[in-house]
Formats: sequence, structure tokens, C-alpha cells
Amino acid sequence: MDRAAHETSPQPVRLQDYAPPPHLIDSVELTVELGDDWTKVTAILSGRRNPAAGSGPAPIVLDGQDQQLQAVTLDGRRLAESEYQVGAEKLTLPAVDGPFELMIEGRIRPQDNTALEGLYRSGGLYCTQCEAEGFRRITYYPDRPDVMAVFTVRIEADKERFPVLLANGNCVETGELPFGRHFAVWHDPFRKPAYLFAMVAGDLGCVEDSYVTRSGREVTLRIYVDPGNEGRTGHAMESLKRSMRWDEEVYGFEYDLDVFMIVAVSAFNMGAMENKGLNIFNDKFILADPDTATDGDFQRIEGIVAHEYFHNWTGNRITCRDWFQLSLKEGLTVFRDQEFSADMHDRGVKRVSDVRLLRTVQFPEDAGPTAHPVRPDTYIEINNFYTVTVYEKGSEVVRMIHTLLGPDGFRKGMDLYVERHDGQAVTCDDFVAAMEDATGVDLSRFRLWYSQAGTPTVTARWQHDPATRRLDLTLSQATPSTPGQPTKQPMPIPLRTALIGRNGAPLPLRLDGEPDGGGATERVLVLDEAATTVSFVDVPPGAVPSLLRGFSAPVKLDAAWSEEDLAFLAGADDDPFGRWEALQSLSTRALLAMVGALRAGKPAVLDQRVVEAFRASLADDRLEPAFLSELLALPGESLLGQALDVWHVDEVHAARAEARRVIGETLFDGWSALYERLSAAEPAGGADLSTAAMGRRALANAALAYMVASGREEGIRLAVAQARPDGTMTRVMGALVALNDLERPERDAALAAFHDRWQNDPLVLDKWFALKAGSARTDTLDQVKGLLEHPGFSIRIPNRVRALIGGFTAGNPVRFHAADGSGYDFLAEQVLALDAINPQVAARMTQPLVRWRKFDAGRGKAMTDALRRIIHSPTLSKDVYEIASKALA
Ligand code: ARG
Ligand code: ZN
Repeated sequence: MDRAAHETSPQPVRLQDYAPPPHLIDSVELTVELGDDWTKVTAILSGRRNPAAGSGPAPIVLDGQDQQLQAVTLDGRRLAESEYQVGAEKLTLPAVDGPFELMIEGRIRPQDNTALEGLYRSGGLYCTQCEAEGFRRITYYPDRPDVMAVFTVRIEADKERFPVLLANGNCVETGELPFGRHFAVWHDPFRKPAYLFAMVAGDLGCVEDSYVTRSGREVTLRIYVDPGNEGRTGHAMESLKRSMRWDEEVYGFEYDLDVFMIVAVSAFNMGAMENKGLNIFNDKFILADPDTATDGDFQRIEGIVAHEYFHNWTGNRITCRDWFQLSLKEGLTVFRDQEFSADMHDRGVKRVSDVRLLRTVQFPEDAGPTAHPVRPDTYIEINNFYTVTVYEKGSEVVRMIHTLLGPDGFRKGMDLYVERHDGQAVTCDDFVAAMEDATGVDLSRFRLWYSQAGTPTVTARWQHDPATRRLDLTLSQATPSTPGQPTKQPMPIPLRTALIGRNGAPLPLRLDGEPDGGGATERVLVLDEAATTVSFVDVPPGAVPSLLRGFSAPVKLDAAWSEEDLAFLAGADDDPFGRWEALQSLSTRALLAMVGALRAGKPAVLDQRVVEAFRASLADDRLEPAFLSELLALPGESLLGQALDVWHVDEVHAARAEARRVIGETLFDGWSALYERLSAAEPAGGADLSTAAMGRRALANAALAYMVASGREEGIRLAVAQARPDGTMTRVMGALVALNDLERPERDAALAAFHDRWQNDPLVLDKWFALKAGSARTDTLDQVKGLLEHPGFSIRIPNRVRALIGGFTAGNPVRFHAADGSGYDFLAEQVLALDAINPQVAARMTQPLVRWRKFDAGRGKAMTDALRRIIHSPTLSKDVYEIASKALA
């Protein structure tokens, strides 16, 4: 393995080394005096020895980072410097036995904190991000989630520049101080770990609303934004109220404080954070109006507002014992937000888009050098484990429990989980145990889903005997090895299964040996061994199995469908996911055949059956527009790349572009009729945000994109008209995306007009950066390099970095993977520049390099060269070190 220039490589933390904290903290009184040079932080901790961690005196060991310790007072006595040790990351105090009171005085410089962890200053705003281990940058503290305390926080600041002072819980006191300063005191009655602490100080606008809980308590809702953005908070506020209602109706969870606050900030490392009573959001996931946000943005905002709100019960009231258990709260909360969105909109469409994300991002992670279980057992830097595996695969694991237990059983399990663990810091195992104990279902083998990494492949073969009318379905599973886990055990895999009869209707199912199937047309088969065969009886000839319905398990399915079967299911499956999946599989096979032809120097010809299936779907007017737009989307380049042993980026790109051209051209009249019909239904102003209206716009944009792909002038003309910047953002972006790869002056003119209209709106400018960075045109890398100097770009704002640099490295495979390695050189340079500023974001940006084994030898070598260049940096953070070293291992 390559060694970093580090003297000693950063050491991993292991789940097996978990030990309960030697001391508990019951209450914290924190005073934060914000100043232009220094911010002074005083913490008074009331603690005691943890009875669960032995007895007798034990030294108090606190975490701390990037701060200057001024004084320590233990039980009223100021300690001499010789009585404690300050290390780079720990403060070790004398051993204590009984209860103690500790006062820690220190100072920090939030204005220099570019890592955006702990307390930082961005423009005129102070805010915090403490998950996972940011609190230790504010004061010395046992910064681990199993230490839960009641916090009282006093903030002092200049009144004119920081009129708004916020922290968790309720505001209990405010007042004036000398020299134009003021203060506010906040008290949060709920015990919480330090990672849920938050505070904000700044000059913010506020929008207020209220919500009456089902037991009749009135809750004040406030959203804080930069002054001038108040008009863009309406959708977030409505989303919040819908979330509060849904959580009461579906889980009986009521909000538990008198005020719920959201603050939108522009410099934020991730999406949002569920701090108790004071959620802090990336402003991109709060601010929206139809002129500046797309329908996709509106839906993401709704989902993330819900996600953070739902954490109040799944995360805050019941939290994680240690960070290995992260999926306890994240997998469960993602599952809850997915279900919420499914209930608010179209369940089938939601499922399809969640599965697409899982396959596009999580499956590759699970198959690469950074693969880890849903509950990891080791990490170097926990921030690297806020992954699609912990979140999205974690949600799939919860969904499988839901499938195995049924909705009522699952709800009983949730009730028991809360009854047992409210106010505690617990493990994934505690969650599973509650599900078992509430229902009597044995989930002992199911627990493997938490500990075993890698995506299982399920193979399905079947045989029908017309004489006996039996259909034997043989299922088997295998999970590939992953780093540190060479061999795998079979896991219980729930497979929702149906048989679709030749007339297109699902058949009533009866298994061999059953007196009667009860008329049900769907079964949950549980494949819990390496292989098994189930036999259906009374099956007429020509029935086609519909398998893994609703994507009932996060697996790869290798099923023996013929192209004819797939075309049939694409038109007939009564499961929306199954129907979409059939067309995806048919298209994938055809596209891979085209890639093969191109590799062999032959022309790529699209299988006519794909065009016919598209034609049939287009003509099926029973389909909801939103669903149809998903149905008509070809698998993306990275999905196709993954389906190949070697991802031939150029051929994949060319094959997909050719397929789009053929579909666009052959069905042009259909697209055009559809586009006209849908555009006529679009009211002027475009402010109809109903699910149906969003679906119509999605479908109109899909039709427009196919018309442009056809190469006909008419398509380009329509797109140019729709791209005019006075339209609503969904339509404008739809048109710009359709035009973005064209080497035509119209494309440049449309992007320039968009830029001129929106250059002073950072969130909209991000869309422009991403378009520029995502274009398949050959000059894109040069454009991106030039845009690093654009006045609207800043390497300190993660949203800008993700839009411009990420738009190229993660959003533009054909240009990023240029055979000359120029994309890799660019990324290595950017990662190193970023690492000095913000290691967490730098580590994320390194990701596109880790799957170098998927590419040909030349590219693989260039990618590993780039990784080596990164890892040899003498000042590398452990964040980037962990990713790069695993990639090279
Ligand atoms: N808990 C937050 C959420 O899922 C995300 C926190 C991410 N933290 C991190 N260090 N990446 O809503
Ligand atoms: Zn979360």
C-alpha cells in the first residue's frame, strides 16, 4: 500500500473497542461571547462517574480541537497547569470519583474556521455544525453521542450586527449589555448529545407561522433567512407543517417544544442538520419560488425539511450510542422521509427515483474500495461515513423489515422501540430487537444486513410445465467479497413476487401444498438460504414472473426474462416499479449491445424493440405524466458503465446519444404532439405546484429533450424558445439541459442569457455552473478552469464547489474521464487546494477517483497517479487520507 507522507498514518476507530463513557454529564451551562478577534467560551459541566463504567476514581478526559484553553476549575478550585494535560485532541484532568462541577474557559476564532465544523463565521453570520464531532471545536467536552445533558446557553454579541441570537430549546432571557452588546439565554429541557447543539447569531429575516398539534398544543414555527429572502420560504414552511401532520398520523409522533426553528445558511457542508428545535439548513434546501427553483428543487426541499423534522423522534429523542450506529437514525429517517414523499405525491414515481439513486451511487460504493456495511465496524474519519450506504441502503434495510412485518407489525415495533428507548442512546441491534419483540418475528439472520457489505445478486430461473400447470421458480443468492470481508453468508431477502398472465392481469397465486392461495396475486417470498425452489400451481401457459416488485430488496436481479418478456412486462406489469424496470432492462440490454458493436468497430444500431416499447408507452394514456417521464428515461451513462466489466466511457456516451437520437427521430411526431398538448395545459406563470402539474412539466421536458436529440431544427427552435429566461425555472432548465451538449451558437446564447439574468443570485448561478461543467462539449474542462475565476465562484462555499467542480468530476463522465488524464489532474489539484480549506468537502470530491479499477489500463493508471499525488501531500487531512488510501489499497 502507498504510504502518505505522514510520519504515522491516522489510526482507525473500531466498534469492537466501544466502552461506555467513564463520566456522564447531567447539565451544561455554556456562555459564548462573540468578538471580532476572539470568541470566548465558558462551559460549566455538572457531571458524575458513570455507574455503568465501573467504580472508583477515573481521570476526566475531554475532547477538544483548535482552541486555546484559558483556565480549568474543578469543584470551585482553579487547577494549576501541572494538574492537567492538554494534548492535540484531548484534555486530561485529575481522577474523580463522585459528582463534580467543572468550569472550562477557552477561546476560539470562528472567523478562521473554513472547515465549517463547530462554530464558524460565514459573511455576517455565526452558525454551528456539530455532527458528528464538531462540538469539540467549541469547548472541551466528552464529545460522544452516549453522553446526554441538559443545555443552557447564553450568547453575547454586538447588537447592531447580530440582532438575532438563537440556540436550542426556549428563549428564557434577553437583555442589553454595555458597549452596544446584548445577550440571549436559551434552555433546552431535553437531554441531548453535544452533536445536537446549535447556535446562530446574525442579522436575519424571520418568517413566522404556527402549528397546532393533535393534542392541541400550539407550536411557533420560524424560518430565518438572509434579509430579502423571506419571500422564498413559503414552500419550506408548508412542507414543515405537512411533515408535522404526517408524523402524527402515521407514527403518533408529536412535536415536543413550543418553538421549532429553521435557519438557512449559504456556507454549509451538507444538506441540513436536525439540531434540537433549531434545524440548520443549506439555503439551497429552503429557498424556493417558481422563478428560481425547479420542480425537482421543490420536491427535494419538501423531502429534506421532512427528514430533519422526523429526526426529532428518530435521532434526537432516541439517538445513537456511538457513530457506528449512524444508520440507526439515518436509515430509519430516510425511510420515513421516502414514505412521506410517496404519500404526498406518486408512490411509484418516488420509488423509481429512489431506486435510481441507490443503483447509481450506492451500488458502485458497495462494489468498490470504500465499501462498508450499513453499520460500519471501523473508520478513520467519521465524516466519511455519511454515505449512501449508511443512508440509502440503511433505508432499504428498514424497508425490508417493514415488508417482512407488514405495516401494522412495523408500527408495533416502532411503538415498542420508543417505549423502551425514549431518552436513550442505543444501537441498531436495539432497534431490530424491538421489531422482533413487538411481533414475534425472528430477525436473527436478518441482522446480517447490518454487518455484511456488498450488493447480493439474486438469480432467478423458472420453468413451466404445461401438463401439470406448475411453475418452478429457482432462486439463489451470492454476495461478492468486499474489503475486509472475503466470504459472505446468505441473508434473508424478501422478494415480492407475482405472475402476470398472458392477458396482462396478475394471476391468483397458490404455492404447491397449499389448499388454497386465498386469491392474493402477490406473495413475499423470503430467500433465506443460498438457493431454493418454490413451485406455483394452477399456472396457465405464458405467465411471466414479476419479481422484486417495488424493489423489495437492495439486490441485483439476474432473471431469465427474454426480450419479449421484458417488452410484455413493460406494458402489462401492475407494479409500477416492475413496469419501469422492465423497460430499463430492455433498454440496458440494447445499449450494451450498441457499446459492444462500437468496440468492435461496427455501427451501433438500436434494437427496434426498444423503440416499439417506447412507442407503446407513449400511446398509453392511462399513465400519469410523471410516471411516463420516468418510463421514457434511458438508463444513465454511469449505470451502463457499471453494467460493463470495463466502463468504456466514450462508447457508452456515443451509444446512449445515438439511442436518444433514434428514439427522438423515429417517434418525433409523438413527442411533438405530447409537447404541444402538455405545454397548452401549462398555466401562464407556472406556479401550479401540484403533483399533477409537476408531472406534466417533467414529461414536457422529456419530450422536448428527445426532439432536440433527434437533430431536427424544430426541436432546437422549441428549446430555444422555452429557454428564454423570463420563463419559470423548471421550463428554462428543461430547455437548457436539452440544448447543453450542442455545438451550436443557440446553446451558447441561451446559456449567456441565463447567466446575465441570474449572475447575482448564487443558488441560480450554481445551476449555470453545473450546466457549463456538465456539457459533453469537448472544451468543457477549459471552460471549468476559466470559471474558477468567475466572480460568483468561491472555493470556500461548498455549494459553489459542488456545482462547478463536482458538476464536472461527478456529473460529466465522458469529459472527466478524458483518455489523456486531464480530468484527473484537474481533480487532484482541486482536492489538494480544497483540503487545506475544508477537508470534509475535499474528501467527498475525491470520490470520482476511487473506482479506478472499473476503467481500462490507461485510465486506471492515470487515476492512481492522481490518487498518489494526493496522498503524498505532506499536509493531507485524515479525511482525504482515508479515502485515497482505501482507493489505493
Ligand atoms: N444528520 C444530518 C442529516 O442527515 C447530516 C449530518 C451530516 N454530517 C456530516 N458530518 N456529514 O440530516
Ligand atoms: Zn439525517
